[in-house]
Amino acid sequence: MSFSRMLIFFFSRLIVLITAKSSLPPLYFCLDKGYFSNDSTYESNLNGLLSTLSSNPEINHTGFCSTSLGQNDDDTVNAIALCRRDITTKECISCIDVATRVFPEICPNQKESILWYDICMLRFSNRSISRKMEIDPSMGFFNNISVPESERTQFYTALSELMDNLASRVKFADSRHNFAAGNVSLGSNKALYVMVQCTPDLAGERCSDCLFLAYDYIISYGSTGGKVFAPSCQLRYEMYLFFEPDALDMSEPPQVRPTPPISPTISTSSPPTRTSGTIGNVKKLNILFSLFM
Ligand SMILES: *[C@@H]1O[C@H](CO)[C@@H](O)[C@H](O)[C@H]1NC(C)=O
Ligand SMILES: *[C@@H]1O[C@H](CO)[C@@H](O)[C@H](O)[C@H]1NC(C)=O
Ligand SMILES: *[C@@H]1O[C@H](CO)[C@@H](O)[C@H](O)[C@H]1NC(C)=O
Ligand SMILES: *[C@@H]1O[C@H](CO)[C@@H](O)[C@H](O)[C@H]1NC(C)=O
Ligand SMILES: *[C@@H]1O[C@H](CO)[C@@H](O)[C@H](O)[C@H]1NC(C)=O
Repeated sequence: MSFSRMLIFFFSRLIVLITAKSSLPPLYFCLDKGYFSNDSTYESNLNGLLSTLSSNPEINHTGFCSTSLGQNDDDTVNAIALCRRDITTKECISCIDVATRVFPEICPNQKESILWYDICMLRFSNRSISRKMEIDPSMGFFNNISVPESERTQFYTALSELMDNLASRVKFADSRHNFAAGNVSLGSNKALYVMVQCTPDLAGERCSDCLFLAYDYIISYGSTGGKVFAPSCQLRYEMYLFFEPDALDMSEPPQVRPTPPISPTISTSSPPTRTSGTIGNVKKLNILFSLFM
């Protein structure tokens, strides 16, 4: 199956927000899959994970960690933390740090929830979430500029070809580096930039499955730029460069991107800081969510 000839899938729960901004406030879903009580073992296990994730050596070394804490089935908390591969280790740690601080405030007492910043993701659940391809819940952000009718064929041909290339690179990539970014010319000085990433615990085929679903959504929406966040993958495309250019490597698979050195700063996304503004965004988003859900 290729992106140029794909089947139609549907997200079971996809939220669309139209945004003019390139940097995002925290996005989250409280999944209402059960609640824990204060002062329970579950809570102390959750707090244990929250307080140690940003200093987890796996986060420091790979930008990803899938871990759990608990002695018994009913008090075990599972977590996944993931950073975008094109950011620096410092930005990654800082993003996870902010996410772990914000987390208890966004979905208090919920056993399962997920939070995304533009550059990192954090998930918790009482069930095992490791090595599972999950697309629900997902969220799509698109700009308000549609691809003109006359340019659609060229645009989607270029996009699907680039997606094929990127998905095959992710498929063959080292499991710790499930990230690929690339660009393709659209003629007359225009170009398309695309970035894909899966949680590194997914096998390549499962990663492609997730990206297909995200891509399907992009096609049905028809904007010139946007991003889709799912628990297992992320896809972003724009008509401008939004990722670290060092991540741009159009070489053929099975090229493995080496662990990126500490790279210069990224212009499009700064690590979130924990301010009252951040929390304010969370509250504001909550209202948006209820409008769109
Ligand atoms: C998670 O918690 C919910 C609600 O308390 C419970 O119904 C479910 O069985 C738990 N799942 C696991 C895997 O323990
Ligand atoms: C648990 O404690 C927090 C903070 O003290 C409070 O906001 C929340 O309502 C409590 N939850 C329950 C279920 O009592
Ligand atoms: C991350 O790892 C590097 C090299 O292994 C080490 O020097 C650094 O102190 C670590 N940073 C944190 C925050 O743990
Ligand atoms: C897109 O959104 C921006 C910012 O809100 C607005 O200024 C612009 O007029 C919108 N463009 C279209 C085509 O709706
Ligand atoms: C992709 O981007 C790089 C760096 O900006 C540029 O040198 C290259 O020409 C671009 N390729 C296409 C096909 O647009």
